[in-house]
Amino acid sequence: MAIFLTGSTGYIGAHVAAGLLERHGERMNLLVRAQDEHEAEVRLWKSMQLHFSFPQFHEYLRTRISIFRGDLTDSRFGLSAEEYARLAQSTDSVIHCAASLNRKSEKACLNVNLRGTLEVIKLAAAARDHHGLRRFSHVSTVAVAGHRFNEVVQEDDAIQWDRSDYDPYARTKKFCEHMIRELLPEVPRTIFRPSIVLGDSRHAETTQFDMVRAFVFLAGLPVLPFRAADKVDIVPVNYVADAVVALHQKPRPDHEIYHLSSGTQSQTYRELTMALNRAREKRPPIFAPGLEKPFTATVNWLANREGRMGRAASLMKVFMPYLVWNTVFDNIRVVSELGTSPQPFSEYSYPLLKFSTENHFSYRYKEWPTVPSQQSKVEFVGTPMGGSLA
Ligand SMILES: NC(=O)c1ccc[n+]([C@@H]2O[C@H](COP(=O)([O-])OP(=O)(O)OC[C@H]3O[C@@H](n4cnc5c(N)ncnc54)[C@H](OP(=O)(O)O)[C@@H]3O)[C@@H](O)[C@H]2O)c1
Repeated sequence: MAIFLTGSTGYIGAHVAAGLLERHGERMNLLVRAQDEHEAEVRLWKSMQLHFSFPQFHEYLRTRISIFRGDLTDSRFGLSAEEYARLAQSTDSVIHCAASLNRKSEKACLNVNLRGTLEVIKLAAAARDHHGLRRFSHVSTVAVAGHRFNEVVQEDDAIQWDRSDYDPYARTKKFCEHMIRELLPEVPRTIFRPSIVLGDSRHAETTQFDMVRAFVFLAGLPVLPFRAADKVDIVPVNYVADAVVALHQKPRPDHEIYHLSSGTQSQTYRELTMALNRAREKRPPIFAPGLEKPFTATVNWLANREGRMGRAASLMKVFMPYLVWNTVFDNIRVVSELGTSPQPFSEYSYPLLKFSTENHFSYRYKEWPTVPSQQSKVEFVGTPMGGSLA
């Protein structure tokens, strides 16, 4: 039997897959988008190389992983009836981590988040009907809390249907939680809601740069359009992944919903900029909250322009609502159950900034070595090439 994981080629999903492979013994069924088997292998190696050397990765691939080549937006993920049955019959728990985070595209969010999650629910129901499902874990987001201001949000109060949402991403993720509850009422479920996931507190390297770009852009400004005492809820990816792995594998977690966040321990803009500028030996910025409106207008204008500035402004535009809401997400549940708190961002922000700027916001991926790939056979199932490949 295996854990079915979606999103393993993504930032958080790869950390979750690595944690499960390192600390637990179960097999894994991974949904991967790829044209052919080798592309799927290479894509997985790309996402896993932050965690494993190639020989380690290859050993896991050979002994613990079944790749199902498919897409969330296709009926039955685009798998043949036979492949789909094999996936359902070999899955005894689900971690649904894949999503579209494209806050600007309603179409992408509707297709991947809503139709895709419905496909994952149907797979879970098929596994439940065949032999029972141990747990369905869903990686959601604190953005489901909608428009907020100056709040500490508790897990059970986050979803309020009469509240407006900031973007299609938040709206569709909120409805995903609802579908899972309504359609799998008797299956043990865990809903994880990370806050802003930024960097890894263990090392500077990252493969995800969107939010880091926005952070570097802000860190370069001499004047910030924020209130210095506002808090921003940032959590490192390693804390998020550790929590998902530990609670998914726990026979009976204490709660159904967990905020994976820094909660009331979140730091203020003043604390964050002081720490960063001390490390960089630079003057701290001036806080001018009165400039928020002209700043937002400028960002919106720049977002329509080409080039590096346009790209940075475009990112700022989608993240801006989450930077000025002065809202944090209570994390007492996860902290007491794991026995650890997330590392404060100020303790690892400078290495992250240095790594990202020195490497021009890219990660130097290692190629797939030619010799070891010939050595062993990896189990493959999938579309669009069809057929089972050994
Ligand atoms: N990053 C954050 O700050 C943050 C904060 C709160 C919550 N979250 C949640 O955490 C989860 C993971 O986010 P992330 O930051 O790791 O995102 P990411 O790096 O963009 O990864 C997204 C994953 O979803 C997969 N995916 C997207 N569309 C798919 C499709 N049509 N079929 C199959 N797979 C598809 C991607 O596959 P490809 O590689 O093929 O594109 C990738 O593996 C999401 O559910 C997100 O809502 C993230």
